[in-house]
Amino acid sequence: MAKYEDVVNLALRRSLFYPGSEIYANAPAGLYDFGPVGATIRRKIVETWRKHLVQREEMLEIDGALIMPEDVFKASGHLTNFNDPVTQCKKCNTIHRADKLLEEKTKEQYREAMPVEELTAALRKHKLACPNCKGDLLDVRQFNMMVKADVGVSAKASCYLRPETCQTIFTNWQRMAKTMRIKLPKGIAQHGKVFRNEISPRQTLLRQVEFSQMEAEIFFEADKIDDVERWDEVKNYPLRIMKAGSNSVEDITCADLLAKGITTGKLIAYYIARTQQLMERLGIPASKMRFRQLDDTERAFYAKEAFDLEVETSLGWLELAANNYRTDYDLLGHQKGSQKDLQFCTPEGKKFIPHIWEISIGLDRTFYTVLELCYRSEGERTWLSLPPAIAPLTAGIFPLLSNKPELTSKARELFETLRDCYEVQLDETGSIGKRYARMDEIGVPWCITIDFDSLNNNDVTIRARDSSAQKRVKIDALKDELYQLVTGKITL
Ligand code: GLY
Repeated sequence: MAKYEDVVNLALRRSLFYPGSEIYANAPAGLYDFGPVGATIRRKIVETWRKHLVQREEMLEIDGALIMPEDVFKASGHLTNFNDPVTQCKKCNTIHRADKLLEEKTKEQYREAMPVEELTAALRKHKLACPNCKGDLLDVRQFNMMVKADVGVSAKASCYLRPETCQTIFTNWQRMAKTMRIKLPKGIAQHGKVFRNEISPRQTLLRQVEFSQMEAEIFFEADKIDDVERWDEVKNYPLRIMKAGSNSVEDITCADLLAKGITTGKLIAYYIARTQQLMERLGIPASKMRFRQLDDTERAFYAKEAFDLEVETSLGWLELAANNYRTDYDLLGHQKGSQKDLQFCTPEGKKFIPHIWEISIGLDRTFYTVLELCYRSEGERTWLSLPPAIAPLTAGIFPLLSNKPELTSKARELFETLRDCYEVQLDETGSIGKRYARMDEIGVPWCITIDFDSLNNNDVTIRARDSSAQKRVKIDALKDELYQLVTGKITL
């Protein structure tokens, strides 16, 4: 099993991701840049989400502004509730996340939502001191995680960078309802950057100040939570569920999730299945996943029901997605805050505030997890077994020898032909073994080699990344062969 360090080393070696502004010594922690290969894999994860969730479920996708006025966050509750518990060293003044200090010391889980008095008592009980200078720690207090972004020169408007993409979905709701011929249930989705003033950024992409989300908010009529058109497609799908209070994962079908009263509506079970299916497409096996049902003390302040999608990694179970039944909390809050009517009106004239089911996926954590779970090594060989849909390229194209013009010109010709429909890269330098290794390491599923036989027979060798199997294919049949491979209709 790959370790966190293997992934980070690969990321730095091949510039998948690395610290932002890294040439400056004073660059803040928790900010990461993505190089060409990392940015491409990430973009393809977004495209897979778009294809298999947003488009498949006929959602509307928007792209909202990152800066929003303070009133939005008064109405959403973030100014009051979006806090992390912190403690400060009396000697060196460093601020620490109290729950994380406790977790590191005790190896037990501490909830950030725990009352500050309880966290202070735990700090004292375990005799915790500042990890930097061993100084005494102050009582725990709440620290608001919103990042301020005042706009304008004189009379500044108080604004914040959004801490979750869904707030723009909520402020867009009235316009969507008026202009997009909406019929409920309807999903509105958005992918983009969010910002949180993280006190203890750590573990590279896993706890950052600036990160990306892929969020879908499904608006529905509360009384019609069981009207799910495509229920039959998922009702027998086995979901990986860990019930609140339990510490084991069970395979429970969508239908049984309802029958056993684990959730209150078909719509919720339906979208949990779609989320699990999406993660499976990204190369995360169901056996490594669980939807952990949160109890009353763990849910976010806006959620009535919640299931965290967690995946088992070398660092333990990582939360990749929050699935929340947000009810009418957000639209009611924004209706009050904006003084605008945010009700939905049916063609029959029935008016109501819709309820919302949220699927909030952390893109960077998903990206990290996919890299870790797809990381393979055997002897000297390292490769990323990425699903073709999210691999940075479809194929590498190599002339067997780089100093033979007849081979290089044939390889360039093939490159020009294939680049119309596939993402291909020509690599003419180094031994063939080194060229395979370079492609394997970034997860390119196939390599195509032109050799001397190719000149006479007009064919090439295709070699598969995972099995190293090889096959001769006529150049005229190559586009179709790649199509069959990419779509999984054949394997080498
Ligand atoms: N929108 C939910 C979250 O950011 O966790």
